[in-house]
Amino acid sequence: MRFQQIATALSVASTAIAAPAETVARESASSADGLDWAAAYTKANAALAKLSSSDKINIVTGVGWNKGPCVGNTPAISSIGYPQLCLQDSPLGVRFGKSVNAFTPGIQAASTWDRTLIRQRGQYLGEETKGCGVHVLLGPVAGPLGKNPLGGRNWEGFGADPYLQGISMAETIQGMQGAGIQATAKHFILNEQELNRETMSSSVDDRTMHELYLWPFADAVHADVASVMCSYNKINGTWACENDGIMNKLLKQELGFQGYVMTDWNAQHTTQPAANTGLDMSMPGSDYNGNNVLWGSKLSQAISSGQVQQSRVDDMVRRILASWYLVGQDKGYPSINLGANVQGTHKDNIRAVARDGIVLLKNDGNVLPLKKPAKLGLVGSAAVIGQHGQNACQDQACDSGALGMGWGSGTAPYPYFSAPSDAIKARAQADGTQVTVSSTDSTGSVSGAVNGADAAIVFITSDSGEGYLTVEGVAGDRNNLDPWHSGNDLVKAVAAINKNVIVVVHSVGPIILETILAQPNVKAIVWAGMPSQENGNALVDILYGSTSPSGKLPYTIAKSANDYGTTIARGDDSFSEGVYIDYRHFDKSNIAPRYEFGFGLSYTNFTYSGVAVSGKPTSGAATGNVIPGGRADLWDTVATVTVTVANSGNVKGAEVAQLYVGYPASANTPPKQLRGFQKTLLDVGAKASVSFPLLRRDISVWDTTKQNWVIPAGDFTLYVGSSSRDVRQTAKLTVA
Ligand code: NOJ
Repeated sequence: MRFQQIATALSVASTAIAAPAETVARESASSADGLDWAAAYTKANAALAKLSSSDKINIVTGVGWNKGPCVGNTPAISSIGYPQLCLQDSPLGVRFGKSVNAFTPGIQAASTWDRTLIRQRGQYLGEETKGCGVHVLLGPVAGPLGKNPLGGRNWEGFGADPYLQGISMAETIQGMQGAGIQATAKHFILNEQELNRETMSSSVDDRTMHELYLWPFADAVHADVASVMCSYNKINGTWACENDGIMNKLLKQELGFQGYVMTDWNAQHTTQPAANTGLDMSMPGSDYNGNNVLWGSKLSQAISSGQVQQSRVDDMVRRILASWYLVGQDKGYPSINLGANVQGTHKDNIRAVARDGIVLLKNDGNVLPLKKPAKLGLVGSAAVIGQHGQNACQDQACDSGALGMGWGSGTAPYPYFSAPSDAIKARAQADGTQVTVSSTDSTGSVSGAVNGADAAIVFITSDSGEGYLTVEGVAGDRNNLDPWHSGNDLVKAVAAINKNVIVVVHSVGPIILETILAQPNVKAIVWAGMPSQENGNALVDILYGSTSPSGKLPYTIAKSANDYGTTIARGDDSFSEGVYIDYRHFDKSNIAPRYEFGFGLSYTNFTYSGVAVSGKPTSGAATGNVIPGGRADLWDTVATVTVTVANSGNVKGAEVAQLYVGYPASANTPPKQLRGFQKTLLDVGAKASVSFPLLRRDISVWDTTKQNWVIPAGDFTLYVGSSSRDVRQTAKLTVA
């Protein structure tokens, strides 16, 4: 029944081009979250029948830049009870909200490798969004994927691996949409840098497209994401927002996407090609001068002249209405109020993600956790509350002060900001510790703070953001992988005076740590990432050991910037590195990273034993009908890997057990690819069985001839361990 309803709903959508929905047989269009596209489409069809031509144009065309309460708005249609739709940034909170939380950026959520926290973060984001009457939140982010560590917006997404991104996208979307809002997976696709993002063309080979960049969007679609935002760049010379291969073929046909595609802001260039290649909503509806409107009356004219079929516009409207019904926004949704106080107790999640995303990189002589020091010296402008905490800079584009997130549209205002120095001073009182602070980055003023201190904590940062703002000569993408404000010199100056130096890094992505590691007095490095408003509180939890560190790097930290093998393109980008980004590249080219993808220390130890594999997958292509996310059987569990993890150390702690798959040599894939992870909290002496279900997609390769996912025959090696290089157990899976 459900299948038939959907098929009927979609069969109306005929256009001059291949209508994706029609070509696809659907067995079931709802996934684990219980949302039901079939029911939503039935309602959407009924509503569609009541709409006038101009209603339909209004639903698909934003009211124009700066013309409504939200960053994107479409007019209300009273005949069907459809509201003035509010689309609002950002992936980490309600941008411009007056009393909202600023959640941790995506990169910190990924760094926890904790599905439960990631899901809860999505749910709370959804609750705050709904509380403000916002219908569509413009996140989460799976593009950039982060092929280039300099990419200015990498911190908005979930790390440099498609599997980690995909799981994080799905959890976030299901959390958000379960709370009743529409999520937006963005930016679709190959938008890996800020430089020239609105003019450049990205081209990528078909296999890399599927195995890396499309992968997390498939998870998003499988999680029933309501909308997808097409990106600014061109793909193979054609704008993403008028690209048949991207929107119609990949997203709507191959992935069976049921929701709607909206433009990034002002990323639309044409009326007719955009409509006929799969665009469904024009945002914000005009250019930034408010003059150039590409849909609106122009779309009406294109229908009149036969350039765009009415059925295509009906399909746009149906997709938008179905998404609105899907998440239940037709019933009792709050009215738009960005001033609503919606914070609730959500800061608990922010603190947990900020804390559990902290990665302990180095801890010589167990200098951490701190043991009631008599005197602590804190150094660096990032130790204290700066303009950031006061929301003093446009979209968080600040040049100094404690750092919680990057800058740009992907931000939200902080309701408060826990600075490291304040949080440490508060905690230090319990031990009677004297805390001295040098709150500048000048090497000349450190000695007073750290002379005679039992330990010195130096705070360094690296920031980046969206390219419409420039901070300290950084025009979005980072200029290099060095710490800001001569952070290396600051560490050197402190390490020349104090023997127990702890370096705390707040950064949007990797920095090169070699100079710092060359100082023998640097005993510990705490990679504190992007903790948002709970910066100081989360850090104290780790520094003082109330929680053992359990974050793992969501990207590789190299010894040299050149080791990554990618760089910001000055013109078009041919993605010549193919699938070999981040650890895939380091592994293939035998480059030793400084700290590998998936790495992170704990205050305890974990032992792995008894790896076992069950299931006997057979080789061959996927055959299932297309459901949201692609062929249904791609999501079937075809094998399960289990392992026992034990806490063999002296304190309670959580371990992220990771599964990497090595394909048969004939498949010509990266040596190892992440295909499972599970975070488990273990008491001292406790052990747990961890299991990694392998889906058909997880052991398939994209066959460019067959245009399908195919499981290759041969021996797969399954690497289970504590990072991408710290392999503790291996097993074999033979596919006949
Ligand atoms: C452009 C950004 O790329 C996008 O992420 C954002 O949602 C829109 N601007 C709206 O602010």
